[in-house]
Amino acid sequence: MNNFEFINPVKVVFGKGSIAELSAQLPSHARVLVIYGGGSIKRNNIYNQVTEALKGFGYFEFGGIEANPQYETCMQAVTLIKEKNINFLLAVGGGSVIDATKFIAVASLFDGEPWDVLVKGSPVENALPVGVVLTLSATGSETNERAVISRMETRQKLMFSSSKVFPQFAILDPEVTYSLPARQVANGVVDSFIHVVEQYLTYPVNAKVQDYFAEGLMKTIVEEGPKALYNPTDYDVRANLMWAATNALNGWIGCGVPQDWSSHRMGYALTVQFGLDHAQTLAVLLPGVMTYFRKEKEAKLLRMGEVLWGITQGTTEERVQQTIKETETFFQKMGIRTRLGDYGIQESDLDCLVGPLKQMGWKLGEYGKIDSKIAKEIMLLRL
Ligand code: NZQ
Ligand code: ZN
Repeated sequence: MNNFEFINPVKVVFGKGSIAELSAQLPSHARVLVIYGGGSIKRNNIYNQVTEALKGFGYFEFGGIEANPQYETCMQAVTLIKEKNINFLLAVGGGSVIDATKFIAVASLFDGEPWDVLVKGSPVENALPVGVVLTLSATGSETNERAVISRMETRQKLMFSSSKVFPQFAILDPEVTYSLPARQVANGVVDSFIHVVEQYLTYPVNAKVQDYFAEGLMKTIVEEGPKALYNPTDYDVRANLMWAATNALNGWIGCGVPQDWSSHRMGYALTVQFGLDHAQTLAVLLPGVMTYFRKEKEAKLLRMGEVLWGITQGTTEERVQQTIKETETFFQKMGIRTRLGDYGIQESDLDCLVGPLKQMGWKLGEYGKIDSKIAKEIMLLRL
């Protein structure tokens, strides 16, 4: 096991009816800005529960955060915050709303151009406090210190992380996910599954707790994911998926182990340039990464195949190939298409798609080997 430091200060309030606990989490002097997305919260009663819990607090609203949140929209919220002397931000939404809120929290107090935090890695000295009411379990953003923001003008999607943007609390009521459309259920299942894979499917460092924990999360997601599609109002299914997604990216399973994250980083360009949902980009690219690096990842691929898909027969190569195939079939079973061609992307598009790797000088994967040339070879496997 490698050396590590671990902290996760986020208070989780989990369960049926937990939005009613919101007022008890807020500081008494809070002047709150409620930040939300395109309006789903107004159609499924989440908005009513939140405003009911906010009675007695001064609060304002900022709606219209897009899926894959945009820098330009976030900066409009910053203007409102300064105008109204807001001192607490409440994100009510999925990963996009939470990420936007984290960026807004930083941008509101930033001395200079806040985009530099994403593009230049400028240090974050301060941020407004953030609370979360989660409506879509997928990204783990509710209990982590990361955010991913896009900028239309420069056609970039970039990530930053800072301990200053850990939410103070996250309210997780599985019932609020009943209203998710099938596409978002599938996205959440596949995204959270691949968060585990990015931290598990590298090379062994004899990190038993992390490996067994990661396998438990993957098993849970594989068992419960399809059930959420066929029986959307099964509370136990939703509760298990929600808690799995949170644990998949709260830092815990990543302690002291090598991590990959190449499917994630390569996927940003598919979203920015072709509009794929975040999870769709991963379902396309991960089987390519698994195939391209099957020798480097062999020990973990064999173990994953046995534990998750019951693959114990055949030569090493056959077992590895079967593991990759079963993993891709799981994504398809959730209703997600897994080939670039399924989204109209052709070979002639690949140079442009690997452009950001070149531009940012990224070297991805657990060995830091994936440059734009290798990224293109991986994408060629996925046409
Ligand atoms: O905008 P509204 O109208 O609210 O609708 C949303 C949105 O259209 C809808 N939705 C959310 N909760 C709902 C609901 N519809 C009905 N009922 C509900 N309860 O779902 C749509 C998608 O929402 P979004 O927040 O975009 O989805 P997700 O949670 O998958 O977030 C994706 C974003 O998170 C980033 C992704 O890159 C992407 O920008 N990620 C953030 C990470 C992090 N901070 O740690 C890690 C991830 O790997 C990921 O990169
Ligand atoms: Zn993800």
